[in-house]
Amino acid sequence: MFKEIIDPDLSGRNSFRVPQRAARLIEFETAEDLRQLFAGGTVGEWFVLGGGNNILFTQDYPGTLLHCTARGIRTVERTDDHATVEADAGTEWDDLVDWSVQHGLWGLENLSLIPGTVGAAPVQNIGAYGCEAKDAIVQVEMFCPEMGNVLILDREHCGFGYRDSIFKRSLRGRAIITSVRFRLGTAPAPRLDYGDVASEVARLGAPTAENIRTAICAIRRAKLPDPAQTGNAGSFFKNPVVPRSTAERLLEQHPDMPHYPTADPDRIKLAAGWLIDRTGLKGWSLGRVGIHPRQALVVVNLGGAGGGEILAFAGTIRQRVLERFGVEIEPEVNIL
Ligand code: EPU
Repeated sequence: MFKEIIDPDLSGRNSFRVPQRAARLIEFETAEDLRQLFAGGTVGEWFVLGGGNNILFTQDYPGTLLHCTARGIRTVERTDDHATVEADAGTEWDDLVDWSVQHGLWGLENLSLIPGTVGAAPVQNIGAYGCEAKDAIVQVEMFCPEMGNVLILDREHCGFGYRDSIFKRSLRGRAIITSVRFRLGTAPAPRLDYGDVASEVARLGAPTAENIRTAICAIRRAKLPDPAQTGNAGSFFKNPVVPRSTAERLLEQHPDMPHYPTADPDRIKLAAGWLIDRTGLKGWSLGRVGIHPRQALVVVNLGGAGGGEILAFAGTIRQRVLERFGVEIEPEVNIL
């Protein structure tokens, strides 16, 4: 069954809390709902809205927003060393992480407390504290309106990269994710080598999945604003990947600049948060929009800002980083 809402107010459906509207919103549960909906031939322009945690509406959306409300989590297979777990697209991501830790399964604990839904996780290959969703995803089930049927894509065909996947590229606007399957381990596999994770876990005791989850939640709560209190979409920008020569030029001037290798030896990843911080913009605000004082990658709605205002503010940040370092930073957030 699907439910149609005409002219919805989107302020409670996007974590930036911008008061934009859409022509209509359809809440669906299953691929069969989508098949019936698209068979009717009246959908027109559409966009999938998950938890609204990685989106900036800069104007009213003229088409149909599709939102999955199914939230089931199922064990499909369990052996001595792993379990295959399937979660519906509408499941809260952190509910899945919590469920996996409660069931003694390893692989998602470093991705604790990332806001958003399971259906959004493969799209931008969410990541944090040394892990990415792609490390655990084995299959993505999606409905394809062009064909009117369901397809299952194996991990190796998902084109995963840093905050990137096929769903942002050739399948953009062509696939609606309905569920995701994960392969999770039963043997302890702690990953503690990012930032203060190891020290925070050590304070709690042994490196159990529960302690890692607790530690990561504490680190995130200390650094990142709670979207329930302050409108934001997590990192507004992606960390830029630049030619090695650019990184070397910058390192001569700023030997303390964080930089990370990538799969391509000629490309180096820089930290956009550091670049913004070094332009002196951290904590800066203009009107109703600001940069979070504890993490310069996060743009915050200080109350009542519209999408256009937030976009213009982000444009100023990009410009300042470009002028100071000669590096282009790109939004991570979807801009509609
Ligand atoms: N830094 C600063 N100033 C800042 C922010 C960062 O100097 O204001 C420096 C840090 O000291 C560190 C480096 O920049 O040396 C990287 O910072 P951090 O470890 O905090 O991670 P990040 O690159 O800023 C990424 C993800 C976050 C994720 C963290 C932790 C992206 C775009 N962001 O941030 O993801 O939580 O790593 O793994 O890759 C999100 O995507 O919404 C998000 C919050």
